[in-house]
Amino acid sequence: KTIYRKDYVAPGYWVDTVEMGFDLHPQRTHVATRLHMRRNHDSAEKDLILFGEDIQLHQLRLNGVDLKRSAYQRNKERLIISNAPDTVVLEIETSIAADKNTTMSGLYVSNGNFFTQCEAEGFRKITYFPDRPDVMATYTVMLRADKKQFPVLLSNGNLIEQGDLGDGRHYAKWEDPFKKPSYLFALVAGKLVCQEEKYRLKSGRKVLLQVWVEEGNLDKTQHAMDSLKNSIRWDEERFGLELDLDRFMIVATSDFNMGAMENKGLNIFNTKYVLANSRTATDADYAGIESVVGHEYFHNWTGNRVTCRDWFQLSLKEGLTVFRDQEFSGDLVGNATGRAVKRIEDVRILRQHQFPEDAGPMSHPVRPDSYAEINNFYTVTVYEKGSEVVRMYYTLLGHEGFRKGMDLYFQRHDGQAVTCDDFRAAMADANGRDLSQFERWYSQAGTPRVKADGEYDAKRHVYRLKLSQACPATAGQDHKLPFHIPFAMGLLQQDGSEFALQLESGKAHPQAPRSIILELTQETQEFEFHHIEHEPTPSLLRNFSAPVILDFDYSDAQLAHLLAHDSDAFCRWEAGQRLAMRRLLKLVKSVQNGEALALDDMFVEALRKTLVDANLDPAFRELVMTLPSEVMLAEEMEIADPHSIHQARRFVRASLAQALKAEFLSVYQDHLTPGKYKPDAVSAGKRALKNCALSYLLEWSHESTYELAYTQYFEAENMTDKVAALSAMLHCSSALQPQYQARRAEVLQDFFDEFQHEALVIDKWFSLQACAPSTDVKQIRQLMKHKAFSLANPNRARSLIFAFCNANPAQFHAADGSAYELWGDAVIALNKLNPQVAARLARSLDRWTKYPVAQQEMMRAALQRVATTKGLSKDVAEIVNKALAMK
Ligand code: ARG
Ligand code: ZN
Repeated sequence: KTIYRKDYVAPGYWVDTVEMGFDLHPQRTHVATRLHMRRNHDSAEKDLILFGEDIQLHQLRLNGVDLKRSAYQRNKERLIISNAPDTVVLEIETSIAADKNTTMSGLYVSNGNFFTQCEAEGFRKITYFPDRPDVMATYTVMLRADKKQFPVLLSNGNLIEQGDLGDGRHYAKWEDPFKKPSYLFALVAGKLVCQEEKYRLKSGRKVLLQVWVEEGNLDKTQHAMDSLKNSIRWDEERFGLELDLDRFMIVATSDFNMGAMENKGLNIFNTKYVLANSRTATDADYAGIESVVGHEYFHNWTGNRVTCRDWFQLSLKEGLTVFRDQEFSGDLVGNATGRAVKRIEDVRILRQHQFPEDAGPMSHPVRPDSYAEINNFYTVTVYEKGSEVVRMYYTLLGHEGFRKGMDLYFQRHDGQAVTCDDFRAAMADANGRDLSQFERWYSQAGTPRVKADGEYDAKRHVYRLKLSQACPATAGQDHKLPFHIPFAMGLLQQDGSEFALQLESGKAHPQAPRSIILELTQETQEFEFHHIEHEPTPSLLRNFSAPVILDFDYSDAQLAHLLAHDSDAFCRWEAGQRLAMRRLLKLVKSVQNGEALALDDMFVEALRKTLVDANLDPAFRELVMTLPSEVMLAEEMEIADPHSIHQARRFVRASLAQALKAEFLSVYQDHLTPGKYKPDAVSAGKRALKNCALSYLLEWSHESTYELAYTQYFEAENMTDKVAALSAMLHCSSALQPQYQARRAEVLQDFFDEFQHEALVIDKWFSLQACAPSTDVKQIRQLMKHKAFSLANPNRARSLIFAFCNANPAQFHAADGSAYELWGDAVIALNKLNPQVAARLARSLDRWTKYPVAQQEMMRAALQRVATTKGLSKDVAEIVNKALAMK
């Protein structure tokens, strides 16, 4: 059943207060709930409608009177009371088998401890409730449990009472003073320990910060705690937003469907985004923790204090909060190139994941119009494209203007459940701007293309830039209207400096800015720049000022010029990517035609210059040296050919390694980071460049380079260097030669033995193998039988199966279709255990129509097998049916 945005109706009843009592037993948890409700006279909905799923109902009392079975209607999803009075006290007794709950939604047990996940619609698996985000109430929660088994009892807000119950059981009573929607409810109970600290806010108020983990992990909580303190300070300084509670808790669990959850005052996290020390976590892990801790913390204002009216508005909180966490990470680096590096990484994620999503069966607007299962819409479009949409306000309104808009948004909507239109109105009103056309970024799906054409008039010293926009049709949206596109640009001179940009003729203004933001609102617009003394090289879509695909017919010489000189680091990097992309696509054709492969000196020279340029940030150089991924190449082709793509990319890497081996070697030597491990951006950047050099060196067949990796593996004192060495040995061509087989096996075994008790590191062990170009379907099936593998643990399933299906295209698209069968088996098995995770895996075949007919047929068969499986969840059904509807 499909739910439509246009069908929104306000709830028939509001809930003012929620009182809950839990008697926690893994097999049978008893829940008593008391709701104070009152009729919403403005609603067309006259009945009292509660949602409930997979729970046993024991008692229902309305204003003190037991409700007979005939007094309400009930089906698998809803409980409806008609003709209820205007004021209602509803008492509900339910019970749950949390230990049997493998969905990780609602109340579930992980490693003997209780956790909850209520977003989006998990609260209805705990009690009957108007479980929709526009119903906001205050909660008081009493937890009772066995004291030995569950010594720690946590819920949202403040702990107001605790004590013994006498019979080996104890209790804790929690009160959350802030109104919240039910999706922010949380409880945790079990054997946990915490790192805690009293923290002084800017206002002087003291708050208690805690990071809760399982015993034995307290040596991995410091970074999360530091990230939390940084987040608190950053939100005070950048947005004037203070933590509103006296206590803020983070709890880590190894069984979690997503990254983390912003429950009020009690954030629950996947261990992957909490636990880190130098022995077990990489630089990327450290950065991930910082941004996710920030993300969940920032939700306290953008999500919790102001929440979503309905789930179609999800990007209201997610797009905005991703924007905030990206800015947080950028600001923490504290310098311009560090910011640019972060920006490039974020753009890469958008292009690698969101652009394909927007071109495939799951394409949807940032604010979707319909869904069958809302959990399927926690997507890169809602999150990352949503963040780009927020960033465009920032670009259009400026730093101050954006802040004014945010201030007005909170002034108007604190304590409310609102829509994306309300956010847009606050941005517009605070700045006296008309942002009505901007609405199309929320309602139109698909990635717009902007075509730029430049023309230089040498006589008049005028450079004319013509911009046109178009957006491809997507499901249900045949014709798109023009978007309001902020288009940042500059014009480079021959010596690498930049022209002053003057849009009106007449006297020259040498003080005019060198970088400006054009506003493209029509289908086609022309801009004339005056006093341009010679033909410039245009630097376009600076800092990726809009989530579009830019077409401009650059010459190689222009791209090399931009790569060498552009003051905008994003465009500089982009120029290198364009040079590489062009060559890679040509080489793919050559591979397909069986022609000899060659790489031109001009390209090698352009990369060489960047690689050895000591004035450039090492992290930036690493980004330039990283070729467009196989997935990105496939997206650029009419008919994707993973095997030829793989070979072409391999060839370019090997040729660069061959031509630049001396440079790679010295870059390797010059960027060692001896001494105590530090995860900061500068040290991480050095390691990234050094390990990039290492991986290139291992493309070039020579015993000495193999030794380099082998030695680095055994001598590494941090996980970043250890994993990089291992990855080079498993992924690079020369390292894959048969004579190294024994040593490959040796390091893999060594790694497993050393880290077998560190689940997150064993995830890496599976992933590295899953993504190795030499790992085929048979080996994946073998690994699935490994004693450390488990499909039921989402992190482990992702580390092996998702990694193989999404990040090893040449093997996943094996000619015999055997990997599609593996995919189908895994989706069907996961469907029974955990529909949300199953639906994520189902998306690995999203792009099936992009492949040669023979592969398409096998993928269609695999999709059909899943679609016709008995007991298919609506999560998986929605994904595979949309995919099948592509053709
Ligand atoms: N709101 C969470 C976040 O962005 C994501 C939780 C989504 N969970 C889900 N089951 N759909 O941080
Ligand atoms: Zn979020």
